[in-house]
Amino acid sequence: MDNKIKLLGKKREEALLGGGKARIESQHKKGKLTARERLHFLMDEGSFQEIGMLVSHRSTDFGMEKEKYPGDGVITGYGTVNGRLVYVFSQDFTVFGGSLSETHAEKICKIMDLAMKNGAPVVGLNDSGGARIQEGVVSLGGYADIFYRNTMASGVVPQISAILGPCAGGAVYSPAITDFILMVENTSYMFVTGPNVVKTVTHEEVSSEELGGANTHATKSGVTHFACANEIEAIENVKKLLSYMPQNCEDRAPALPYEIKNELREELNTIMPENASQPYDIREVIGHVIDERSFLEVHKDFAENIVVGFARLAGRSIGIVANQPAFLAGVLDINSSTKGARFVRFCDSFNIPLLVFEDVPGFLPGTDQEWNAIITNGAKLLYAFCEATVPRITVITRKAYGGAYDVMNSKHIGADMNYAWPTAEIAVMGAKGAAEIIFKREINAAEDKDAKWKEMELQYSEIFTNPYRAAERGFIDEVIEPAETRVKLIHAFKMLENKVVNNPRKKHGNIPL
Ligand code: COA
Repeated sequence: MDNKIKLLGKKREEALLGGGKARIESQHKKGKLTARERLHFLMDEGSFQEIGMLVSHRSTDFGMEKEKYPGDGVITGYGTVNGRLVYVFSQDFTVFGGSLSETHAEKICKIMDLAMKNGAPVVGLNDSGGARIQEGVVSLGGYADIFYRNTMASGVVPQISAILGPCAGGAVYSPAITDFILMVENTSYMFVTGPNVVKTVTHEEVSSEELGGANTHATKSGVTHFACANEIEAIENVKKLLSYMPQNCEDRAPALPYEIKNELREELNTIMPENASQPYDIREVIGHVIDERSFLEVHKDFAENIVVGFARLAGRSIGIVANQPAFLAGVLDINSSTKGARFVRFCDSFNIPLLVFEDVPGFLPGTDQEWNAIITNGAKLLYAFCEATVPRITVITRKAYGGAYDVMNSKHIGADMNYAWPTAEIAVMGAKGAAEIIFKREINAAEDKDAKWKEMELQYSEIFTNPYRAAERGFIDEVIEPAETRVKLIHAFKMLENKVVNNPRKKHGNIPL
């Protein structure tokens, strides 16, 4: 018996070493943690239970039968993060560069299947040279098995991908289907084809970091939701993200205990600039409304004209979508629409109520926007709000102009409660432009055209540059003092907590893509 236990111990020790000491050192030299170190930082102490530690590959080509490492380049299992069950895989770059073999893929699929059956999130820690080149098509088949599961799990359990090293070629499509991607500056990159292929095909000279590093994807493509300074920060963000989410689509997000106190926030009464064309930072408004320091901004550096993220209100998890007047005047464009739509759909999939702050002058004009399909892309945000059945509340702080008024969670598309501050301007367009169009004849006939224009602008503005027309029609439920915003929202979200809306039965909708 003793000998048999010793043998098990030896096999385990071997597995713990991955690709061996030299490769672990080389991993550290690159400024990266090992797959096991990452798990140590992610999971609650002592909670991680490994599955498939002794799995090895079945390949026999190129002498591969002589080179086997228990675990085959990926550590899989389950455990808890802040006390809640999470399934996890962590690719081990020290074993064949973390490349994905048939068995490596089977291990990932096994924990994804368990996560689906038991309704808990899957976190992937990716660090891989891609398909195991020695294995050919079975490795590609393995990727496809994972993509299929990612898609089936989408909207059922939350899926988070941290990219902590290379992620190239077909490998990118698993993270792309998951709900959130986090990358680390300088040590991780994602691209479909690398710099060498790019150089051959398009003659562009570009480094890996420039082509597909964390900052590139955080600012230019929007592929990653977080660009983190280091791996610890990335892992901390994974934990924070999980804290706002339920375990699965049938569950509710955890709420922190909260006792209602004095919830008036007088600071909000002076936040709006006197001049309506002056910017202010919507994050300041958000900060005063939500529970202190509870905002986790998502996609912070991409399409900054819209701000999205998770927060808590009286302890409950909410998703916030807000126009940002401090960037491009908060206008809606292609990127901000897709960013907003993706976030709204995540929240709706996982029962996280939505709070919208609206200050939007309209859609961004221009050939670039029209030719790149602002029509189709803008429709994504509209569609996402229309189909969302979670509690939905809008606060119009200032501008709500044109079609953008409809899109930004208006009453007409299913919002439950719509508030407006007294500074709200709800109209087809700004008074200046409106006067120029509808009073063209009067202005042209006048001796002093500018004075006439001003006069007509004032007339239009008196009628529409306020929230009262909309309130008279019930499109706005209440015009509120900014200071009251938090208290109103706390009560309204509580009132809506058992909301049930069933959209018509269908196979699935056809969101404009
Ligand atoms: N399949 C099998 N083994 C792989 C591999 C793959 N896809 N990618 C890397 N490896 C192995 C290397 O042979 C090397 O093995 P060793 O430790 O026994 O020497 C080890 O992983 C580390 O790779 P190395 O190239 O030394 O690391 P690096 O940090 O310098 O570069 C990559 C990393 C990912 C850029 C580089 O390995 C690479 O280009 N890999 C191939 C990527 C690819 O084309 N994948 C297939 C298509 S998806």
